[in-house]
Amino acid sequence: MDKMWAGRFTKPSDKLADDFNSSLPFDCRMYAQDIRGSMAHAAMLGAQGIISQADADTIIAELEKILADLDSGALEFDYSCEDIHMFVEQVLTQRIGDTGKRLHTARSRNDQVAVDLRMYLRDECAVITDLIKELIAAVTEQAEAHKQTILPGYTHLQRAQPIVFGHHLTAYGMMLARDLGRIADTVKRMNISPLGSCALAGTTYPIDRQATATALGFDAPSVNSIDGVSDRDYCVELLSALSLIMTHLSRFSEEIILWSSWEFRFVELDDAYTTGSSIMPQKKNSDMAELVRGKTGRVFGDLMGMLTVLKGLPLAYNKDMQEDKECIFDAVDTVKKCLEIFIPMIRTMHVNKQRMYRAAQEGFINATDIADYLVRKGLPFRTAYKIVGQIVGHCIQTNQVPDEMPLEEYKEFSQLFEQDLYEEISLEACVKKRTSQGAPGAMDEQISYLKNLL
Ligand code: ARG
Repeated sequence: MDKMWAGRFTKPSDKLADDFNSSLPFDCRMYAQDIRGSMAHAAMLGAQGIISQADADTIIAELEKILADLDSGALEFDYSCEDIHMFVEQVLTQRIGDTGKRLHTARSRNDQVAVDLRMYLRDECAVITDLIKELIAAVTEQAEAHKQTILPGYTHLQRAQPIVFGHHLTAYGMMLARDLGRIADTVKRMNISPLGSCALAGTTYPIDRQATATALGFDAPSVNSIDGVSDRDYCVELLSALSLIMTHLSRFSEEIILWSSWEFRFVELDDAYTTGSSIMPQKKNSDMAELVRGKTGRVFGDLMGMLTVLKGLPLAYNKDMQEDKECIFDAVDTVKKCLEIFIPMIRTMHVNKQRMYRAAQEGFINATDIADYLVRKGLPFRTAYKIVGQIVGHCIQTNQVPDEMPLEEYKEFSQLFEQDLYEEISLEACVKKRTSQGAPGAMDEQISYLKNLL
């Protein structure tokens, strides 16, 4: 079939060039958005008297059928078409003849693709938002179940102070909460309609941009027609929000992998979300978490790809911009898949409380609390800190833990130590007494914060 733009040319384009140029293999996923955009455009053309109302009605009715046929599979994509916009217009014209040729009045593929992509990504943002919320719910459930499960909190991957597992999990909840906010912010700037920018310079027809913007659920039409067709900031914003989601999932994955190791054995993933080895019968690998950690790289790559495509582009539309779609689609697909697997993996994760507790008993993680004890008895913190440092050194030398060192030995370091020390430095007390806002002894507030997001 002749190209829609064939008029100007003296010979057909090369097959290799056609394939290289075509975006239909990947922009076909925006067919519903493309058709809805065309329906709103046709309705506006009719209402403004730019085409007759009868033509507008015929076009809209046929577009509705094309949409249904694509949904049902009755109509297949013709990959000889350059892109989704050309394909839909071609089918429309085949079916209703010359009337179909009136649709592209006061429009260009430049504003068409920009409107399609914004609509498509807006829908995907809604899906991703729901998935993040579900993951927050799963994390919160586990956090509630482990409000009293003591384990060492780490800094420098060295045992630092006792916390509860719920506290550690709600920290991830907070990251995901910010991810929700970032997606919502992105959608605010994404939800602007470029339709009516046309090729770049608007049009001489009396179009109503507010009408198409409203019909398609946008907050407003874009203010500048050149920017309308050239702006892909919303892609970059979404890709960076997605990259940060992946960063969070990757950190979480790393910990899950570490905790599942035989060295830690803090958690055990459900068999459904692990794999075995083809040679080592004892293995139970955290492949899902490892893959999430690995897939983070490709989402970062998608962000870099998008930024690089845009950085040297003169205004307005350039074909380079067709490269926006594969990277953003890949990132969206990847993040959705990762969130989907993470939700049940977290929900079914078994927590080994005994192992966590044992790790907390070793490693002098109540040293700060021994110092705080002396502070309460009147010593300045720095003095207390020094004394406790000596006690820790003594315990290491004599191979004992502070909880079990006899009071007489404590007294050699300070006469302020009394029998009540043991009660005060127990792991349970260390955690419970930390009731400052955000601390492990103040879990309820953190859990309600997350629940309120849902
Ligand atoms: N397939 C193109 C894209 O994805 C649509 C816009 C084409 N515009 C043009 N002037 N060639 O960017």
